[in-house]
Amino acid sequence: MQKEKKEENLMEKIVSLCKRRGFVFQGSEIYGGLAGTYDWGHYGVALKNNIKQSWWKKFLDNRRDMYGIDAAILMNAKVWEVTGHVANFADLLDGKQFNTMLKTEVGAKKEDVAISYLRPETAQGMFVNFKNTVDAFHPKLPFGMAQIGKAFRNEIAPRDFLFRQREFEQMEIEYFIRADEWEKYFEYWRGEMLEWMEEFGLDMGKVHELEVPDADRAHYSKRTIDFEFDYPFGRKELFGLAYRTDFDLKNHKLEYIDEVPTPEGVEIPTESVGKKMTPHVIEPTFGVDRAVLALLLSVYTEDEKDGEVRSYLKFKPNIAPVICAVSPLLKNKIELVEYANNKVYVPLKAEFGRVAWDDNGNIGKRYRRQDEIGTPFCIVVDFETLTDDTVTVRARDTGEQERVKVADLKNYIKEKI
Ligand code: GAP
Repeated sequence: MQKEKKEENLMEKIVSLCKRRGFVFQGSEIYGGLAGTYDWGHYGVALKNNIKQSWWKKFLDNRRDMYGIDAAILMNAKVWEVTGHVANFADLLDGKQFNTMLKTEVGAKKEDVAISYLRPETAQGMFVNFKNTVDAFHPKLPFGMAQIGKAFRNEIAPRDFLFRQREFEQMEIEYFIRADEWEKYFEYWRGEMLEWMEEFGLDMGKVHELEVPDADRAHYSKRTIDFEFDYPFGRKELFGLAYRTDFDLKNHKLEYIDEVPTPEGVEIPTESVGKKMTPHVIEPTFGVDRAVLALLLSVYTEDEKDGEVRSYLKFKPNIAPVICAVSPLLKNKIELVEYANNKVYVPLKAEFGRVAWDDNGNIGKRYRRQDEIGTPFCIVVDFETLTDDTVTVRARDTGEQERVKVADLKNYIKEKI
């Protein structure tokens, strides 16, 4: 009971911090909101971008076998018919079947109107561009396509803040392989997914794997693992890994000609060279919003400072929305403000981008605010600075302060991150 209450409070604290500090707001709030939608504020956008960048870097930039795509959200309705989404993409509630795809009409004139759907997964944008990608880049198996983008589901009961929304974002990979290698690559991607979760800062003690039983798997999957997270409202899905077989490419009637061995020297059976075949697919899928929620829950920390409880977000520096905040000790002392702006803020902003100017309230209040934003370093320009060109740098986690030469600031921060 006590634990449940604490967990409930934690969720309330996170939601309220997100609003107070400009991370996430309720969608259409001034009109009473729209269930299942959220709007991202300045720091929320920055946090999401950092998470997406870390994902893109690991799975695209650092590899030679991945191809990015940014496909349209609106797709020809046939895509959803041939892949079984129109028939299968449904929840069951009270014996009634609801199709959870968001339907829309495309075409301004009545006679030209065609039914379309807002995509419920980004995956199909990759499958329908499989041939375009093969023709443009001539990739050799195994290779993957990756996409980050919005997905929409008319969820019956949107709930739990960012967890179940009607409009959300996915980061997905479709990894094309030969059929007989699916188990090997399934294991491989399981490892890659876990590695990234740790890299961007999740509390791995709260991450668990669930082998999804036959009856609960999506209609296209032959094996699925859900990576679950211990949210305050229970252990629930965070990300997923599925073996989609050749289900999608077959349905889209897309094939591939196995041509030559891969540059890595992987031998392919000679009898298959030059033959048409349908690759199989391993799909690692990640919800951006759930990544943000799980991360906030992982890094939210409370401790006691100067007899007061303080809360802070212990983001890794590469993920934190703000890397450092610059403050003149007093905002009405022009010489401090000018120094802080011209010699500290402007050069650091040019170098790191994610730099905040904070001159609101006393220093203690500024530290508390930056702690809640998760800013790893606060830099204060004081009267001593004017005489010796040093500033106070205060570390978020320990609250420790040290004097650093202004000329050394860039390197100091670079070393720390
Ligand atoms: N292409 C496969 C696919 O879409 P999914 O498990 O239905 O699989 C993938 O969705 C990920 O998208 C989930 O693991 C979750 O992180 C996220 N997701 C799904 N529905 C969501 C919702 N209503 N709100 C927020 N995120 C959601």
